[in-house]
Amino acid sequence: MITQQTIQQITNRIDIVEIVGEFVKLKKRGANYLGNCPFHNEKSPSFTVSPSKEIYKCFGCGKSGNAIGFIMEHEKYSYVEALKWIAARYNIEIEERETSPEVKQQQQIAESLFVINAFAQKHFSKNLIETEEGKSVALSYLKHRGFREEIIEKFQLGYNLETKDDLTQSLQQNQFNLEYAQKAGLVVIRNESAMDNYRGRIIFPIHNQSGKIIGFGARIIKSNDKAPKYINTPENEIYVKSKILYGTYFARQAINKYDECLLVEGYTDVVSLHQAGIENVVASGGTSLTIDQLRLIRKHTNNLTIIYDGDSAGVKAALRGLDMAIEEGLNVKLVLIPDNEDPDSYVKKIGATPFREFVDANKKDFIIFQLEVMLKDAGNETAKRSAVVNHIAETLSKFHRAEDFTKQQDYIRQCSGILKIDEGGLTNLVNKLKREKITKEENRQTNEVPEPLPNQQPSDTEDTSALFINDEFQERNLLRALLEYGLLQWDEERTMADYIFEEIEQYSIENTDLNNLLNIYKDQYYQGLQPSSKSLLYYEDDIIRKLAVNLSVQQYELSPNWDSIMEGMNINNRDISRQDVVMSLNYFKLRKIKKMFDENQRDIEKAATFEEQMDLIKIHKVLKDEEQKITGLLGTVIFK
Ligand code: UTP
Ligand code: MN
Repeated sequence: MITQQTIQQITNRIDIVEIVGEFVKLKKRGANYLGNCPFHNEKSPSFTVSPSKEIYKCFGCGKSGNAIGFIMEHEKYSYVEALKWIAARYNIEIEERETSPEVKQQQQIAESLFVINAFAQKHFSKNLIETEEGKSVALSYLKHRGFREEIIEKFQLGYNLETKDDLTQSLQQNQFNLEYAQKAGLVVIRNESAMDNYRGRIIFPIHNQSGKIIGFGARIIKSNDKAPKYINTPENEIYVKSKILYGTYFARQAINKYDECLLVEGYTDVVSLHQAGIENVVASGGTSLTIDQLRLIRKHTNNLTIIYDGDSAGVKAALRGLDMAIEEGLNVKLVLIPDNEDPDSYVKKIGATPFREFVDANKKDFIIFQLEVMLKDAGNETAKRSAVVNHIAETLSKFHRAEDFTKQQDYIRQCSGILKIDEGGLTNLVNKLKREKITKEENRQTNEVPEPLPNQQPSDTEDTSALFINDEFQERNLLRALLEYGLLQWDEERTMADYIFEEIEQYSIENTDLNNLLNIYKDQYYQGLQPSSKSLLYYEDDIIRKLAVNLSVQQYELSPNWDSIMEGMNINNRDISRQDVVMSLNYFKLRKIKKMFDENQRDIEKAATFEEQMDLIKIHKVLKDEEQKITGLLGTVIFK
């Protein structure tokens, strides 16, 4: 763990023009620097570096970030590795935080497991290439299946002899602790004696992001009903199945280059496709994707293409992860391989180029695919068909990022076409589900479960279109102002941040990422850490970092009648920060109030008793007054 002080030292020292300048030839253009983008091919430069904002942005490919992000992206480094690189560049000594004894012990175990795995891998490789048994049983098998030597070497494939304890003995001779060997899954104890766990199996080492071996998949050679086809490493300090995708180490660069990640089921599929020159491929092991695996993919690309065989249970498993993938903002496509083939056998059968062409020609949108599968299952039964409608609406309600809204509307149009139902009806249903989700979220946040009022169930036909205009624009803008001006003084006692926190106390931020950003800001602020758009550019979590970059890139367009409004408010014209904060707050509040107003209106119409109605009308009046007050402050700005 690098200490906060060191990070501070590094970030204070960073000069983005210097850092980027190590890799890109930059020319000064006004306040900024311009060069050819290192992340995509271009003839005329569209890659800009802003020293004042401490960010880079390419207007060609859209990549943007801060200096650390640049090193991470360019050198394929982790956050910590990038920090270390920059520290070395500026001769800053890195102070690492004292680790607790528990953490230290964990690290020691992890370190021992890495060492023992590296040893075992070499042993397995030697068995495969140099021993008689390896050559005649395992190497010949691999060759027979069409794997060439260079690919066997690249993926460090190996073999565990059939002898009871060949590896075990070798480990003991080399003073390895057998307890760790068991933890690593290499050795098992049977009848009180230690023996090899992967006897007579081909070994596929599994690498982490930096190429170290975290575990193994061991495939049986002669099929045998009693033994499982694969034995995998048990969960331990370094092998956490839910976070692993086989092949990521070898695929990272190609995934970045093609901006697409292909997902297959098996180890052999990955190795085969690599051999065919298709390198942007990883394997799931046939189970449903976890959130950690999706995030691992999303670090490199938003485009996920699943290549499975049509009958496989894997397709069903993958479908279970679909909603999660949508929430993560991934575009998921599916390619089905013809019956009785898998990517491994199919690429060997038809060859690399036809395989690529096949994949490109048969990419199917996964959401549409899911819908078609469900419709086929439902047949003509009305009840089943309406369950399909509900299911697809549920899926479509998972889109929650602002940039995904047009995508969502597009899907609603397509799906209603396929379902032959009214587009407006499906829109309403999706909105209803979204609203229920938001309400649930809000209730969870405020920790109160309100009694459901009679008649409060929204019907499918009601007008929920207001939901589609969401609050994100105003939320983003307010956070931008907070990041930019939060630390300035509002009045003698309060900073702008204090003032903003007070003013928005009764409202909630709908967008989860923005809400997280607000909470992080608050945390740091109350710890006296002086958060700002710049300091958050260096925050550990990449979603927050990207958000901070985007917010500081975003140009705030002043309203054309800004000056006249400001005159009315009697605020010093040159004090842009105060104007900005006030306006951003007002727009934010107005948006929230308008929404409450609409909701209240609907409740009034549905109120069961006269008293209830009167109460709601009182709220109505309060909201109306508030709205008028703010509109008054904003002048005659037309508000969407
Ligand atoms: P497959 O049966 O498709 O295996 O399982 P494969 O890797 O393609 O192997 P070949 O081509 O038949 O030799 C797909 C994946 O499911 C996991 C493994 O990760 C495998 O690569 N699996 C399968 C297991 O973990 N255990 C098993 O017993 C079977
Ligand atoms: Mn296979």
